[in-house]
Amino acid sequence: MKIVLLGKNGQLGREFRRILPILGEVTSLDREELDLCDHAAIEQRLGELKPDLIVNASAYTDVDAAEKENELAMQINARAPGVIAETARKLRATFIHYSTDYVFDGGKNACYIESDATHPLNMYGKSKLAGEEHIQQAGGAYLILRTSWVYSLRGNSFVNKVLKWSRQIKTLKVVSDQISGPTWARTLAEITGFVLAQNKKELYESISEKNGVYHLAGNGFTSRYEWARQILANDPNPSEQIAHTIEPALSGDFPSPAVRPLFSALDCSLFERTFGLKLPDWEDTLQLAMAR
Ligand SMILES: NC(=O)c1ccc[n+]([C@@H]2O[C@H](COP(=O)([O-])OP(=O)(O)OC[C@H]3O[C@@H](n4cnc5c(N)ncnc54)[C@H](OP(=O)(O)O)[C@@H]3O)[C@@H](O)[C@H]2O)c1
Repeated sequence: MKIVLLGKNGQLGREFRRILPILGEVTSLDREELDLCDHAAIEQRLGELKPDLIVNASAYTDVDAAEKENELAMQINARAPGVIAETARKLRATFIHYSTDYVFDGGKNACYIESDATHPLNMYGKSKLAGEEHIQQAGGAYLILRTSWVYSLRGNSFVNKVLKWSRQIKTLKVVSDQISGPTWARTLAEITGFVLAQNKKELYESISEKNGVYHLAGNGFTSRYEWARQILANDPNPSEQIAHTIEPALSGDFPSPAVRPLFSALDCSLFERTFGLKLPDWEDTLQLAMAR
């Protein structure tokens, strides 16, 4: 099987670089090799590579900056996925794409299911929702996997930020009114890889039978404050912390350009039922991630 991975240097992309070679011959691309703003180049490059499977781990993910750069966010998160999906359908390639809990406004105050009404509060959420719609219009064989609070132990993730703050600040303040499900990028890649392996024999046909939007995130939900507490509790080097207190705060205490939904946890039971999998609890996964 020929596979193209887009966004190879992101949190999720790096994990897919470990997983996808189990399934086939992988061409991994970064922004320099294929800029998703260049829609003609997407069509041309994919046409040359003729993949059986396209995994899109790339996105414009700076939620606050998207408020100003909304045209760029739309190009990368909305129009590019549409072009990839169109091209994939023409090539009979299966398309795996990721979306976000920020397509919801948080007003439900309970976990969201796939058929709940969407109502993004910020430009990032709007651009990701438009991407979902473009893919659905293009058809073909695709999975749109909505996920939430993706982290890795690399770069500027929330986990690394909390660890960094704990070494610099004595009293940490973290918002307790934003609630969702932390999702380890490795788990996301592994579970997606498992689904692809399960359906590998006639991938295009099997996935087109299950086409659609699914929620896939760490099982359970928590506030950013409680998540930060768990990060510190699992710190492999606790003696380096100077933080002695962690205090709950409100989103309003930290004004930011983008409004975020307060309760955007995802109910993943449709994914579990469809693919016969049980998703691991976010706390167990965090413990595992931080023990490495
Ligand atoms: N992070 C979260 O909390 C979160 C929550 C919900 C859903 N998601 C979704 O999950 C997926 C994976 O997220 P992630 O956290 O792994 O993202 P990430 O770490 O920010 O990685 C995104 C990747 O996309 C690449 N990219 C950006 N613009 C590009 C362009 N014009 N052309 C080509 N590549 C471009 C980036 O390249 P550079 O390295 O060159 O910038 C980066 O490697 C995304 O669909 C995201 O929307 C994420």
